[in-house]
Amino acid sequence: MRYFFLPFLISLFISTLFANESKVCQKCHPIIYEEYYKSSHKNASIYNNPIHAAMWDKHPKDDKGYTCAKCHSPSDEKALKEGVLTENEVQVEEPISCVYCHNIKEVQEGEESNTNITTGKHKEFYTAEKGKKGSAAFETEKSWFGLLKEPKSSPYHKINYDNENFYNGNVCMGCHSHVNNEHNFDITMLDAVISEKDKNSCVTCHMPQVIGSKVSINETKTHAFHGIAGIYHMNDKMGDYIDFKVTQKPQGFDVLITNKSNHALFGQALRAGILKATIIRDGKTIVLEPFVFERVLAKDGKEVMPWSADSLLKDTLIYAKKEVHFSNALKAGDKLTLTLGVVRITQEGAKELGLEAGKEFTKFRILKAEKFDF
Ligand code: HEC
Ligand code: HEC
Ligand code: HEC
Ligand code: HEC
Ligand code: HEC
Repeated sequence: MRYFFLPFLISLFISTLFANESKVCQKCHPIIYEEYYKSSHKNASIYNNPIHAAMWDKHPKDDKGYTCAKCHSPSDEKALKEGVLTENEVQVEEPISCVYCHNIKEVQEGEESNTNITTGKHKEFYTAEKGKKGSAAFETEKSWFGLLKEPKSSPYHKINYDNENFYNGNVCMGCHSHVNNEHNFDITMLDAVISEKDKNSCVTCHMPQVIGSKVSINETKTHAFHGIAGIYHMNDKMGDYIDFKVTQKPQGFDVLITNKSNHALFGQALRAGILKATIIRDGKTIVLEPFVFERVLAKDGKEVMPWSADSLLKDTLIYAKKEVHFSNALKAGDKLTLTLGVVRITQEGAKELGLEAGKEFTKFRILKAEKFDF
């Protein structure tokens, strides 16, 4: 056993001497790593996300440099501390690394944005697991070789199950709470409120338990999905948290949308949600005018890029509830289909950023579709 593990541990030791710590985690957490690798968190830098790159390109520059690093690539210390951007391994492979998230001790509230307070410990991580809460730091034994006899815990790092922020979702709020521009105007509008009464948290909805072991050393049935359920992955599953109720009216019909999450939907600048409706009547399909949920940022009554905005032209986002009216009257025998989806950026946004060629960016991603018979 010992001889089997020795080369493995040596290779681990060597790989920790270089950048890309997430690659070290991959050795024991291969499924989580694979999911992470396709996630928006791994792809948050200008080198991996063309929308972010185009926006930074157009953004006015000053001596503070690349301020986006605070949330888009905090693992790159030079970018974070000095605002200096270079195409290095961290930017490309792990702009928001495994270690970074699992090091978040607390979240400090701020006017422009919140700030993550991290421990900087490379071998001690926070996580949440109900049964183990209160057990303080989950100590591993001192010697790696002694440890191999006790495969339950990690031979590589310590685990701390005691950080409340990992249980209530507050760990996400250092980056996701708000992003205010120079005019003190929030350009993301997540408007999230974390409450003890909530049945679900940021983590249970966006990192649900899915099939596959969380670690290769001992088999577990499930693990927390690190690809992030949302716009890119498992998007149709997110529809479980959205309800439609249709009410017939003399002049058309109303759709009441109930949002069961603890935040507003589609608030990110240049993003839009779209509700499509079609009626099948006497074998013919009638396509109704879609409703668009968006928050249009403006200055002096004209749509502008996020950094210039100080007001709104329109806000049709879905907060807790939203009623949408369609002016087509329904008849007996009608079959109505409602489809709610989201586009990463609107056509206008894509044009503004010079990204019209990338169909991926404006693709309609379905969150929920439901049929109603009348
Ligand atoms: C040598 C193998 C190994 C390496 C390398 C490794 N881990 Fe682990 N990790 C484990 C084992 C074993 C567990 C214990 C799982 C358990 O308690 O059931 C664990 C548990 C965890 C947990 C807590 C899971 C839980 O719910 O108990 C986190 C978080 C974690 N690892 C993060 C990381 C990160 C981040 C890295 C890379 C910097 C990493 N691990 C590298 C083996 C490893
Ligand atoms: C306080 C944290 C924070 C800062 C600072 C920040 N962002 Fe973001 N940004 C986010 C978060 C969180 C998201 C994801 C929001 C969502 O999906 O709703 C995001 C999303 C984006 C998106 C949308 C990406 C996509 O693929 O749809 C763009 C573009 C973007 N940011 C550009 C920037 C630029 C440019 C800067 C620097 C000038 C910046 N951000 C600074 C937190 C931040
Ligand atoms: C270090 C900052 C940071 C932390 C911490 C963070 N995020 Fe993000 N998140 C981002 C940024 C930046 C983006 C946008 C990346 C891009 O597209 O450029 C993003 C994108 C997202 C998106 C939208 C895109 C998608 O994949 O659907 C969701 C949902 C999300 N994060 C959920 C979470 C949750 C849940 C947590 C807490 C467990 C969390 N994030 C923690 C920075 C962060
Ligand atoms: C955006 C922040 C974020 C990033 C990046 C991140 N994690 Fe996590 N991770 C979390 C949170 C939050 C949890 C707690 C999930 C829960 O409550 O079950 C978690 C849970 C875990 C667990 C325990 C799994 C379980 O099912 O309980 C392991 C192991 C883990 N992470 C390893 C990693 C590794 C390895 C990476 C990089 C490949 C990584 N994490 C990247 C936020 C993150
Ligand atoms: C009850 C489930 C639920 C909870 C709890 C929840 N979300 Fe969401 N979230 C959703 C749904 C549904 C969407 C819409 C689908 C999408 O856009 O990915 C969404 C969308 C998002 C987006 C993309 C927003 C955009 O601009 O389109 C981000 C970022 C996000 N959530 C972060 C969070 C954070 C951070 C928390 C914790 C404060 C959280 N979510 C809690 C269900 C939830």
